[in-house]
Amino acid sequence: MATQSAKSHVKSIKIAIVGAGSVGVTTAYALLLSGLAAEIVLIDIDKNRAQGEAMDLSHAAHYAQARVIAGDYEDCHGAAAVIITAGVNQKPGQTRMDLVKTNYSLFKTIVPQIAKAAPDTILLVATNPVDVLTHAAHQFSGFPVERVIGSGTAMDTTRFRHELGRHYGVNPRNVHAVIIGEHGDSQLPAWSLATISGMRLQDYCSQSGKEYSEAAMDEVSRRTKEAAYEIIQRKGKTNYGVASVLVSILEPIITNGDAIMTISRVGTYGGVEDVALSMPCRLNREGAHRDVPLLLNGKEKEAVKNSALSIKEAIMSI
Ligand code: 2OP
Repeated sequence: MATQSAKSHVKSIKIAIVGAGSVGVTTAYALLLSGLAAEIVLIDIDKNRAQGEAMDLSHAAHYAQARVIAGDYEDCHGAAAVIITAGVNQKPGQTRMDLVKTNYSLFKTIVPQIAKAAPDTILLVATNPVDVLTHAAHQFSGFPVERVIGSGTAMDTTRFRHELGRHYGVNPRNVHAVIIGEHGDSQLPAWSLATISGMRLQDYCSQSGKEYSEAAMDEVSRRTKEAAYEIIQRKGKTNYGVASVLVSILEPIITNGDAIMTISRVGTYGGVEDVALSMPCRLNREGAHRDVPLLLNGKEKEAVKNSALSIKEAIMSI
């Protein structure tokens, strides 16, 4: 929920959401309840569906004091951010990269229309494979890199902190640990930087009398990486987690909050140029800034490079 002072910034904030599938509408609902936006525009190729979702959300909006409408790309005009959730989703057994060709073609059609209607907006990409599509959105919009953000490993970082918190019996808010690289199979945990209550995991364990186990940490990272596969296997999609993450990325953009989050952005990573992947970035109303230092060890640096190479390969293969 936005604080009272944050709310004073947001009286005129408009957010557009392209794609009224389950991620799009769950994001609209989470955004509505957050109090961060005054107006939410839902855009979908199926206008009737967008209209129905907007009507339903409007009845919830009655309590949240925001306007929810269905619209067209022109209605992105004046939006502080446009969230792109449109595209095909992973089916059980598919990887995010399996969606690349279909969703890239879709982006080729929709991103220029958004950019034309809202040349000053910030694009927030959630469609998978999110790193490749963040790169595509940058290419098709012509926007500066700061203004094209992919939800990236913000989702995996949340899952990682949840898993670590569960393992150590502490609130995930007190776990500082990040997943970087691809929002996908080549992601990596920055173990060397993980802390609980300001202490590195080994120190936290020795000080609190808990066992530090490499095998348990491998299991935490496996569960983090495979969480989406398991959820998709069980319920066919993921929506609540990613919707909450999208709203948490929007908050510092709307409130100019300078929050540090792991999001995807185009840049040079591990010496690989012109690729998008996630590293901690500072988020504010101008977008995502890569001015957050990260002291990785040699093994982690190598893993970032490998992640960058695998995303680059996917970009080049389209
Ligand atoms: C997720 O991680 C599938 O990328 C989506 O929830």
